[in-house]
Amino acid sequence: MLTGIFYEKYAVIHDTFKIEREPSMDASFVWPHKDLLDVTQLSREEIEYLLEKAASLHEMHSRPIKKMPVMTGKNVVLFFSENSTRTRTSFDVASKRLSADTFSLTASGSSMEKGESLKDTTLTLQAMSPDIIVVRHPSSGAAQFLADRLHCSIVNAGDGWHAHPTQALLDAFTLRSLWGTDFAGKTLLIIGDAAHSRVFRSDVHLFTKLGVHVRLCSPRSLLPAGIDNWPVEVFTDLKDAVRDVDAIVSLRLQQERMKAGLLPDLREYASRYCLTLDHLKLAKPSAMAMHPGPILRGLDVSAELADSCKSFIFNQVASGVSIRMAVLSTLAARIDALRKGE
Ligand code: CP
Repeated sequence: MLTGIFYEKYAVIHDTFKIEREPSMDASFVWPHKDLLDVTQLSREEIEYLLEKAASLHEMHSRPIKKMPVMTGKNVVLFFSENSTRTRTSFDVASKRLSADTFSLTASGSSMEKGESLKDTTLTLQAMSPDIIVVRHPSSGAAQFLADRLHCSIVNAGDGWHAHPTQALLDAFTLRSLWGTDFAGKTLLIIGDAAHSRVFRSDVHLFTKLGVHVRLCSPRSLLPAGIDNWPVEVFTDLKDAVRDVDAIVSLRLQQERMKAGLLPDLREYASRYCLTLDHLKLAKPSAMAMHPGPILRGLDVSAELADSCKSFIFNQVASGVSIRMAVLSTLAARIDALRKGE
């Protein structure tokens, strides 16, 4: 059990949201982590806390007034030096729904293009007193690099091949609508380019911590190094891998990160690993197809499946806003608690 924690409840009152706190909980509890760098730093109870908090916030998206005063006066920097649609937008939406002010920095158009280092760029950002910096960077370890040097909280929005913690959390949150809160004993199949995927790494860590059995189906050339030491069952044939699974995550083929020669023929890859409605028929009847996006139709997932009722791909996008609200509001509560204690 995560002891002494505040379970915040969000009650709808006159179309606005009010926070109610469980009176029986210990008011002295402070979230222990300054940063969110990887799911490996979170205990099972902390993961469940964030999923529970996201669930209490999720309802807000269908309300006429999509705003609550949880982060009024707080600044969130969105520092994305690699392309993003879903993650950047959903962190921005999440911050604004919590009443925080956001400002964005991208590599393109910034002084990084003139040769400014990552360290100097982030020290410059810190001089503007942000509370939280959300960072995406092509180098593995970039978020840790910032966390070690800056006083403000850092949230890793994807660093190289290493980790994408809020993607794993939103994948789990999406599956709560299918599985409820008990994930133990379920089987999740992940398909595709695991070698270059931070989503694969974060999903495996998070889902195994929640008691899920993870299968991986990939061509041998796209298996991560040291896969024998991972808690995953490896398949190369998709029809075998998909049999009786409870959910499926298809990964994007990350051609921008691949060395030449890893996949000589994309048509051959698609014929063996593109997830289709026919594959879903071999899984459990309730199984749904997921993908972190962006999807490559006809390569990762068939267009027919992506547009069907067996796809959770756009549910994942909605879940992303709720999970990012849960993460940001948890870090903001920690900042407030530490300031009060000064
Ligand atoms: N899933 C994901 O990280 O998507 P974006 O690259 O669009 O943010």
